[in-house]
Amino acid sequence: MGKFNVALDGPAGAGKSTVARMVAKELGYVYVDTGAMYRAITWKVLHKDIPLEDLSAIADMTASTRIELLPGLTGQTVLVDGQDVTERIRSKEINLHVSHIAAIPDVRERLVSMQKSMAAAKGVVMDGRDIGTSVLPDAEVKVFLTASARKRAERRYLEMNASEISLDDLERDIERRDQLDRGRKVSPLRQAEDAVLLDSTEMSLDEVVNAVLELCRTKE
Ligand code: C5P
Repeated sequence: MGKFNVALDGPAGAGKSTVARMVAKELGYVYVDTGAMYRAITWKVLHKDIPLEDLSAIADMTASTRIELLPGLTGQTVLVDGQDVTERIRSKEINLHVSHIAAIPDVRERLVSMQKSMAAAKGVVMDGRDIGTSVLPDAEVKVFLTASARKRAERRYLEMNASEISLDDLERDIERRDQLDRGRKVSPLRQAEDAVLLDSTEMSLDEVVNAVLELCRTKE
């Protein structure tokens, strides 16, 4: 079999990005962090002072925005209309608003169509919430990666050097975003029927990566 696509979905902080990046590197595939795209649009909404309730202005802005994901040294460099926003899209303020922006149907339609074309040539490892269910329903490998909310908060906490938020606040933020992501009307967060469930609460990063690579080997 030639190249295939890998869809990696799951709730916030489950380790999807790290796992997806490592799996992509191992396979020599392209890694696409779709959460970064929703964060990029959220950053622009706030940066341009577009009122959060002005859905048509947000939709128009999204339609005319250029988002580029470039492979970086430690992760992905995110450009919005040529401007590097890699660091800025990880702020507390973006975390607070991103799930509201991601629930706007026009925003999703536009970003999903970009994501589909990024994966059209295959050889992509894509992480997000709706990859296996709606962006790449035909992905050859589908994984739903989860872990307890506490464990996910602990991992995020360790990742953040500047502790601008406490562990308890992080856990609350993660649970709040999960609720919004699971409850929204358009392509909510859920496990695709044909996705393999991996609960990483008691697994190391290497164990998770190896489990995903094992699934990939059955497709090679
Ligand atoms: O993956 P990350 O935590 O960076 O995603 C940020 C937010 O973007 C999620 O909480 C979710 O609201 C939204 N998102 C989405 N669909 C995706 C990826 C992310 O709705 N495929």
